[in-house]
Parts: sequence; structure tokens; C-alpha cells
Amino acid sequence: MDSRTRILELFRRREGRFVSGEEISRSLGVSRTAVWKQIRSLRDIGYDIEAVTSKGYRLVQSPERLVGEEIQAALDTETVGRKVLCFDELDSTNVLACELGDKGEPEGTVVLADRQHAGKGRLGRSWESPAGVNLYASILLRPQIPPWNAPQLTFVSAVATAETIAEMHDLPARVKWPNDILIGGRKVAGLLNEMSGESERLNYVILGIGVNLNMDADQFPDALRNPATSVALAKGEAVSRLAFVRALLKSIDSLYALYLEQGFDPVRRRWEACCDLVGQRVEVDQQGRLACGTVRGVDADGALLLDTPAGELRVLAGDVRPLKRPEA
Ligand code: BTN
Repeated sequence: MDSRTRILELFRRREGRFVSGEEISRSLGVSRTAVWKQIRSLRDIGYDIEAVTSKGYRLVQSPERLVGEEIQAALDTETVGRKVLCFDELDSTNVLACELGDKGEPEGTVVLADRQHAGKGRLGRSWESPAGVNLYASILLRPQIPPWNAPQLTFVSAVATAETIAEMHDLPARVKWPNDILIGGRKVAGLLNEMSGESERLNYVILGIGVNLNMDADQFPDALRNPATSVALAKGEAVSRLAFVRALLKSIDSLYALYLEQGFDPVRRRWEACCDLVGQRVEVDQQGRLACGTVRGVDADGALLLDTPAGELRVLAGDVRPLKRPEA
């Protein structure tokens, strides 16, 4: 843990009360001047820290800016968030995370950006990524699983994202196969996983997660194919990005551990519990080829299983749209 993180940890334990400069310097084993420099650098990145002679320092407010040390300080995880890298602006967090994966960065590294100027969506689409409002995250994992099982990890991020939105904000977040999170039928989050490997060996997987947290209605592009929303629009008030990202990383960490210990089945069952489509009639668009059927669930490969008049259909890729039930 670096000095800034340790100072933040002291502030957190003190819950808004003063910590003397003497105590900080003793606890970090550095001079009072070095403490003052660290306090100044924390202020530079947006921390509101009060300094009072003879009392010391007091954390008044943390920035809503995403700061690696702040996220990590309260993160009690095994793997996810071992390293948290935050940037004001990136082309895409997935692009940087892939580069880090190629360079051998450790499993659990998280890349976050305040804004993306080339955010990547599924099927070559772009992902709207304005500054200061949303969450754009990419998580580097190196599971020892065969490459053909890597798509199962999309379900880990889908369940974690939907459950975090539902539990933290009391909102009915649901998953839509393969990688959308919806509230009231409107898309609130999207997932884009990328992988690198050879025929028999997986090198790494990147879980790319975009969550519309505090985005306003007028920030969505008119041309958005599917109706979209944000957590704030659904809830009627702004939400904390910092609290959300910590909760999400914790949730991914524990689901990932469950997946590694017990395999895909418990994750698949949690996913089905978050999915309204099971039992519903849907239309699947596979690049212009349409199929209709009733959703039975997902199989061990993460394929969507449909009952159709011609028998069972396994769908590996495509856009799913619920169909209205026929009038009784
Ligand atoms: C989709 O089309 O639904 C997937 C959207 C995925 C967006 C996230 S934002 C963080 C990460 N970085 C990217 O460039 N894309 C993913």
C-alpha cells in the first residue's frame, strides 16, 4: 500500500475526525514534511482535506473522481482490484486492458476511465462514454480454463452488474442474453468481453463493463437503437460512482471465486434468476436471419436455448427481442 492509500485508510478509520500530523508521520514512518506533500497531492486530485494547527488533518469529502487508491482502500477482495488504474480519458478501457494483458500485467488488474473517446460496444458498435457520469471498467483475468469456456465469464459480469444495481439501488435490474442489463426494458449497462489465447490455452480474458450511472436523458444519442436509461434516471437521484465501482468489483470477485471453485453451473443459475426471458417467446436476429421460439435458459457453453416448432435451437450469437404473447 502506498503512502496516499495509507493516509486515506487512517482518515477512513477516524470517520471524519482529525488525525494529527504526528500520528500520520509515525504510522507511515516518514517526516512531517513528507506527510504534508502527500496531503497536498491528495488535495490536487480532488480530496477536500481540512488542516488545523494543533489538531492535524481531517477528510471532509472524497472526490467523485475515480481514484485508484480510494477504490482500493476499501476493497476487501481476493483477486479483482489487486491493481486499480484510473485515467481521465482513454480511447477504450478494453484496449488498454488488452495491452496490459499482452504485457503480462497480473490477474485482477482493473482499468477505469472517466471518459472514453472510442468506447467499444458489441458487433463493432460504439459505446457512448461522456465524462464524469458513468462507469467504464475493464478487468483483466487469467483463469486456467480452456479458451472455449471463456464466454462463460460474460455471465459472471452480467450477474454481478445486475445484482449490484438491484441490491445497491433497489432497482429491478434484469439480464438480457447475451450481455445487456436492463431496467424496465431499457438498457442501463452493456458488457464486452475480449480474450486472447491459442487453440488450447487461454492467455487472458478482459471483462469490459459500461454502466450508465448518472447520465441524463439528453446525453443519450438520438440514434441509439435500443431505448436506454441510467441508474440515476431510474432512481430519480444521482448515485455515487465510487460506491458503485467498489460494490461491483467485490461482487465480480466473489462470483469469479465461485466460478473457479464450482464451475459454471451456480453462475448460470444466478443468471437465470436475473433473467425475465426464461419461459418467454422471443425473436432472435442472427445478422438478419430470424428465429422464433420460447426461451428455456442457457446451456453449459452459455448458448441460449430455444424451443422452436422445429425442435431445440442453440443460439450462440444474436440480438434477442421478446415477442408479445398472442391475445387470449
Ligand atoms: C454493448 O454493446 O452493449 C457493450 C458495451 C460495453 C462498453 C464497455 S465500457 C468499458 C469497456 N470499454 C469499452 O470500450 N467497452 C466496454
